[in-house]
Order: sequence, then C-alpha cells, then structure tokens
Amino acid sequence: MKWPGKQAVDVSQRKVNIQDAGLVALGLYHADSSPDSPATIIPMPRPLHALIHTDALRHNLSRLRQASADARVWAVVKANAYGHGLAHVFEGLRGADGFAMLDLNEAQTLRDLGWRGPLLLLEGVFEQRDLELCSRLDLWHVVHHEAQIDMLSKHKTQVPQRVFLKMNSGMNRLGFTPQAFRSAWARLNALPQVDEISLMTHFARADDAHGVDAQLQVFERHSSDLPGERSLANSAAVLRHGTREAVSADWVRTGIALYGSSPDHGLHDVAHWGLQAAMSLRSQLVGVQQLKAGDSVGYGGTFTAPHDMAVGIVACGYADGYPRHAPTGTPVLVNGLRTRTLGRVSMDMLCVDLSELPSVVMGDEVTMWGNASTGQVLCIDEVAAAAGTVGYELMCALAARVTVMAV
Ligand SMILES: Cc1ncc(COP(=O)(O)O)c(C=O)c1O
Repeated sequence: MKWPGKQAVDVSQRKVNIQDAGLVALGLYHADSSPDSPATIIPMPRPLHALIHTDALRHNLSRLRQASADARVWAVVKANAYGHGLAHVFEGLRGADGFAMLDLNEAQTLRDLGWRGPLLLLEGVFEQRDLELCSRLDLWHVVHHEAQIDMLSKHKTQVPQRVFLKMNSGMNRLGFTPQAFRSAWARLNALPQVDEISLMTHFARADDAHGVDAQLQVFERHSSDLPGERSLANSAAVLRHGTREAVSADWVRTGIALYGSSPDHGLHDVAHWGLQAAMSLRSQLVGVQQLKAGDSVGYGGTFTAPHDMAVGIVACGYADGYPRHAPTGTPVLVNGLRTRTLGRVSMDMLCVDLSELPSVVMGDEVTMWGNASTGQVLCIDEVAAAAGTVGYELMCALAARVTVMAV
C-alpha cells in the first residue's frame, strides 16, 4: 500500500464545518488564526480537565499541622502526588517540612523544582547504585531490610547519610521485626556511611476502630531506649489520634488528607475533618439523547429508561481514570446540580441522568468530583464509595491524557 504524502487540504472549509458544528464554542477545537497560518486547525484536548487547587492544598496542610501536635510534616507525594502531578502540587505544599516519595525520579523532580529541604524515600533504595543518587540529591531513606544495610556498607561516600529505620510493628508489610530491630540499629550505627538514625513504623488500622494502640505499644516496647527522631503517623493517625504526642512524634507522614480525601470516609467525611478538595475533574456534555421508555443506554444496555427521559453524554471515560465499575447511580454534578450516572462507563464517555435537569444543553459543565465552577462540591470519597473503592485509587488513576492545571 502506498501511503499518501502531504495532501493539500481545504482547511478553510474544515474550519467552517467545525464552527458550524459548534465545536469551537465547546472548546473541542481551536482555530489558530495567526497570520502565518490563517486557516490551520489545531485540535484541542477534549473538554475534560483536572484542576489542582493550590489554596486547598495549603489549607489542608495547615489543617494537618494543627492536628499533629508539634510534629514536622512530610507531604507524601508518591505516585506523582497521588495523581495530582508533582509540579502541580509543589506550590501548595512547599510549606511542608519535607517531601516523602518512592521514586528517585520524583526526588529529582523536586530538586529540579528548587526544593532544598528534606526528601525521604519511603521504601529506601532498591539497588546499590541508588545510593549514589541519594548522595548526589541529598536524600534521606528508609531502611527496612538487611539487604539495604549491606548496600550501605559498600557505599563509597564522604558524606554520611540520614536513614529512617523501619519496624514492622504489626502491619506485616515492610520493616524489621521488633526482635531484629535493635540489631539492625546497631549495624547501622556502626557504619561510617550513616549519619543519623531515625525510627519509624506504619499503622495498618489507624482509620478504623482498632486504632493505633497495639502497634504503638509494640513500637515503644522495642525502641524506647534507642536515640533518634520518630515518625509513625499517616493521615488517619494524625486526624484521629494526632493530639497524642506519642502518635505525632517528631515527623508525621501525611498523604491522602492533603489532597482533600477523608482517610476514614464512612466514619467521617471531609467536612468533618475540615479538608478541601485539591482536585476537580470537570468535563462537558458532548451529546444529549432523548430516550423513550424501554430504550437502554451504553454497552450491554445495563440501564433501561423507565419513562421518556433525557440522557447526557459526558467526555470522560475509564481511559481517563474514571472507574469503569462505577454503577448506575454514581453521583455526578451537571452545572453544579447533583444527578447520577447511567449504564456502563465506556472508554471515553459516560452517561448521566438529565430527567430532573430539563434546561441543560450540550457544552454544559459536568463535574466528576471536586468543585463545580458554580461552587458546589462533590467529594471524591462519595464517588469512590459508590464505585466500591477509595479516594486514593481514583485520584491515583487519573490518566496521563487528562489535561491538568494548577489554579
Ligand atoms: C510509609 C507510608 N507513610 C505514609 C503514607 C501516607 O498515608 P496516607 O496517604 O494514608 O496519609 C503512606 C501511604 O500509603 C506510606 O506508605
């Protein structure tokens, strides 16, 4: 097959057609009318975009500071700042005392953004050469395994490093057993490569009635006579137990609450904790269908209209990060008014119920979560709960193709 070369296209005609279709008005296309290219059509991203609210991040950070006694605050920005984008949250979170993450490239990004303060690798290093980058970027890192101590002992550095020794106090994920903790500390303490040793653990059930006491006791019993700063609490521990100094200790490690999602949604919502949504996922209606009673909508026809009704088609689907398993009835805002999704979420679109919203038209705003431009709020936790998941998963799943803007 012969591929066509560059073809002369009557773009001016195309422009007229696109404008006729109302797509320019909808923001779907942008007609570049610069003198150099008078009739070039530049396809714009779909109307779907995520706004990152800098003031909300600042507000949530100060709220967590307030709740964590005198502790210093790590802003946990792993997974690209829980899907928000490191560069987009940096301004709102630069009042933190440090940033904690997993990936070396995230640490590098923060240094590139100009952050000179503490950076902590929450799972430490994975291979020997990572330690060189730790030295170069001046990173603090968690040590949770003997193999990491072995690597440190072979690391050639003039400048000793600060490490956070992690105890497995009951979560049974990462960390030295309480019985092995002391000998790990002694090994680290004997290394010239190590400067300061801080102690940490991570709570498994700070968000439920089980709480933090059992793990706190284990941690204290096996570390109370060791020197060094302590770090134990995540968002749930800070909000629920942070007034206890033993819980907040020297450093708290807060993630989800910074982004305006409640760590114990179901028990307490964001309004209870005084948190604000840091992300608003907004799009537009790109179609309106008039269904007759008995018509169904979307793949599999899983929703059938019980009466004649209008259905809105929204430019947002599972390839954007919206959960495919969100069932009919998942809350959504159209022009700030609450309605529900209908039928199956498809790759690029989802459908919404317009029965109670007779005046909406194509191009009207749809808010999947966060703040509508009219000020109404749909909490990400509510959408997550309807879809059988948690706010963490929804924000982290925001797809790379979605335009993100910090405001
Ligand atoms: C070790 C560690 N500390 C702190 C956090 C932050 O937790 P959260 O987002 O629940 O505040 C995490 C996140 O999972 C973590 O793995």
